[in-house]
Amino acid sequence: MVDRNGQGRDVSPSGSPTRPPSSFVEQANVTDEGIYETFEDEWPECWDRAGSLLEWDQEYETILDDSDAPFYRWFPDGKLNASYNCLDRHLEAGRKNHAAIWWEGKRGESETYTYRELFVAVNEFAAALRELGVEEDDVVTIYLPMIPELPVAMLSCARIGAPHSVVFAGLSADALATRMEAADSEYLLTCDGYYRRGDAFNQKSKADNALLSLSQDVSTVVVDRLGEDLPHVLGENQYDYDDLTAAHEGETVEPVTRDAEDMLFLMYTSGTTGEPKGVVHSTGGYLSYAAWTSHAVLDIKPDDTHWCSADIGWITGHSYIVYGPLALGTTTVMYEGTPDYPDRDRLWEIVDRNAVDVFYTAPTAIQAFMKWGTEYPDRHDLTSLRLLGSVGEPLSPRPWRWYHEHIGGGECPIVDTWWQTETGGIAITTLPGVSEMKPGAAGPPLPSIDARVVDDDGAAVGPGEDGYLTIQTPWPGMATTLYDGDDEFVEEYWRQFSESEDDEWVYFSGDAAQVDEDGYVTILGRVDDVINVAGHRLSTMEIESAILDVDGVAEAAVVGGTSGANRTDVYAYVSTENDYEPGDALSRTIVSTVEAAIGPIARPEEVIFTSELPKTRSGKIMRRLLEDIASGDELGDTSALRNPEIVGEIQAATRTE
Ligand code: WTA
Repeated sequence: MVDRNGQGRDVSPSGSPTRPPSSFVEQANVTDEGIYETFEDEWPECWDRAGSLLEWDQEYETILDDSDAPFYRWFPDGKLNASYNCLDRHLEAGRKNHAAIWWEGKRGESETYTYRELFVAVNEFAAALRELGVEEDDVVTIYLPMIPELPVAMLSCARIGAPHSVVFAGLSADALATRMEAADSEYLLTCDGYYRRGDAFNQKSKADNALLSLSQDVSTVVVDRLGEDLPHVLGENQYDYDDLTAAHEGETVEPVTRDAEDMLFLMYTSGTTGEPKGVVHSTGGYLSYAAWTSHAVLDIKPDDTHWCSADIGWITGHSYIVYGPLALGTTTVMYEGTPDYPDRDRLWEIVDRNAVDVFYTAPTAIQAFMKWGTEYPDRHDLTSLRLLGSVGEPLSPRPWRWYHEHIGGGECPIVDTWWQTETGGIAITTLPGVSEMKPGAAGPPLPSIDARVVDDDGAAVGPGEDGYLTIQTPWPGMATTLYDGDDEFVEEYWRQFSESEDDEWVYFSGDAAQVDEDGYVTILGRVDDVINVAGHRLSTMEIESAILDVDGVAEAAVVGGTSGANRTDVYAYVSTENDYEPGDALSRTIVSTVEAAIGPIARPEEVIFTSELPKTRSGKIMRRLLEDIASGDELGDTSALRNPEIVGEIQAATRTE
């Protein structure tokens, strides 16, 4: 049955249920307890609530076309532009001087973009992109750290109907090249470098290295972030961002009307093969869902200051720093730095200074805050906070309570939000103005999200039993396909349980979960070849294939292991070719090869050499066993092993590493 990865999750009993305080409920965007039933009764028309948060160039008459399932088409006859929805309409509504982006730099500098200023910047860069030759449907790759040009460029692309593909700035040159090649992208926006903990890091040299290996010609735009701190030279077909936009000063670009179905962006994420998957999101379905969940779950109001501390290089930043908050016309905070620089109270200082209303972060961060202690939040006034959120990993009851008490002052509801790159927006969590919270469980599925936990045959499992987390009816934020191809999309995520043609399609999330008697879902971790390390989604196959490129490596198996701490690390089990000596030198080469292929986030914490990997009689590496060993867990059934004698050696090697 469900065999889950070594994500080290103890299913601690959920803490006692907690009701949201009445002060919160009184002002919440959604308070109607009947909303779950209404959505069920009115499906799919209920999704007009999401669609109507946007302004359409051509109103949709149809909500959902499911004739080509699992390729669902939301608002299929509607037309709109995402940048218009995030900018122009707020200007027309008299909010031009309202802050759109509040940017906090690494070195203490800050910048504010009003909606009017953001509009101007987006139009100028949109004009610059046009001048470079970018046309509707051309994929523009953006490889930038958390600087304002990143959301500006995303909205500029959206304005001219060019899908963006943002690649996390910490990924390596090779990873950038793979993604640009796969998307056949001929345009790249990057920068000279960025500061990390006060040091200047070179980003352009990574981008230049990626460009060397590409078969297509690429026009590159470079933002000068570091000035004199890191001088750079522009090569052929490379342009300075400021020069380009200065040449289009004050120009406006008519937003291009897009079909609701047209691609707004693609985002590469780890899947079950060695290749990253290009997840495609639509303009109408995605944007309406990002806006709806920002409204209903994050409770965002136009006059709020909203802070999601994710990186825009991942889906959380796309949906809840950029598209959701800006579609609702609120102020979104964007922070370039780390939580502990210059000191461990940096985030609380930002909350205090900007009177942040809603704060959305990840369990890894919350666990770090807890470890650092209460003196850091205690230095600041955090009473502006009204709602707290968490995403990316399970939030266990202890950190939940710490977050609730020391950041939320016991007064803020917490939404533990489960979702994925593929779902586009939050899918499982409590509605903060409606439902009670159970620390440790994400919550019930949102209205009309038909999440069910099933066994191998697709049958729902009973309360408290482990199963696969699936979603059984479509929702507007869902990915429309994979850029890699429609067949890959179906193969990676969708199943039908009978041969019959009209059997419903079921979406498989790749996570294991349990549901309790009240319908609250507790996430247990991934069941596929994806591991979640500090909230970063990594493919074990991708890391393995990098390791297999190292001279002397015969075989490799990568698993996520937890060494007692509530944290998953990358463990690489490696056997060498006969005449190669395993040892520190080889171990260092393996680590640096993984960093070069993917990025430091995929760095193996441990490289463990073994004379053989554990294999089944049919010759398959038994990764499950390695996960148990890496996590120090009791070993599962080993009777299928062809070489059981190897287990003791691997255990001993893991412990002495
Ligand atoms: C995990 C991030 C437990 C899960 C938005 C999922 C979570 C993967 C939660 C998606 C949560 C996300 N509790 N686990 N609240 N939220 N996950 O695509 O394993 O980067 O499949 O999207 O993160 O990661 P992705």
